[in-house]
Amino acid sequence: MLDAILVQARSHGDFHDRPVPEALLRQAHDLMKWGPTTANSQPARILYLYSKESREKLRPALGPVNVEKTMKAPLVAIVAYDTRFYENLPRLYHNPAAINWYNKPPVAEINGFRNGSLQGAYLIIALRAVGLDCGAMSGFDNHKVDEAFFAGTAILAAAWFLERRLARVRQ
Ligand SMILES: Cc1cc2nc3c(=O)[nH]c(=O)nc-3n(C[C@H](O)[C@H](O)[C@H](O)COP(=O)(O)O)c2cc1C
Repeated sequence: MLDAILVQARSHGDFHDRPVPEALLRQAHDLMKWGPTTANSQPARILYLYSKESREKLRPALGPVNVEKTMKAPLVAIVAYDTRFYENLPRLYHNPAAINWYNKPPVAEINGFRNGSLQGAYLIIALRAVGLDCGAMSGFDNHKVDEAFFAGTAILAAAWFLERRLARVRQ
């Protein structure tokens, strides 16, 4: 298992064209959610793109080296974070005062970025643990992704916050 999740595991850019079973994805997501975050804030918001249409929406934001592999991958996950994650703290954390620790900029952005990125890392490990390979990417235009997928929300995909993960079923 250590080899599968870390030692032998590599980033991948070419993938089988068979779909990732939803049950496997749910298994990985249910694992990653247990990873620790500041005050159990869990700010990551993950958008899983299965359809060709959703992938086309992403295309204009992609850096040139990342276009082909992203379009070919059977699954793309956009990892973003909610800058208003603190609104959920009364439900997620045992100390109700925690909302007042994070409900202002720049603390909200810094902690959202930090913990959202951590959750992205937990997702890579979880995907590998259930037998999926992935390739993290930050080569894209964040403002374009925000506009295309998160307009009108407090969810942000700024530089290196957001990674796309391209998963394939390991043979
Ligand atoms: C946050 C992050 C962003 C990355 N961005 C890209 C990218 O835009 N395009 C790409 O081809 N690889 C990208 N990579 C993959 C790295 O280049 C790769 O992990 C590194 O070279 C080590 O290789 P390995 O993961 O196979 O050990 C990224 C990796 C991480 C963790």
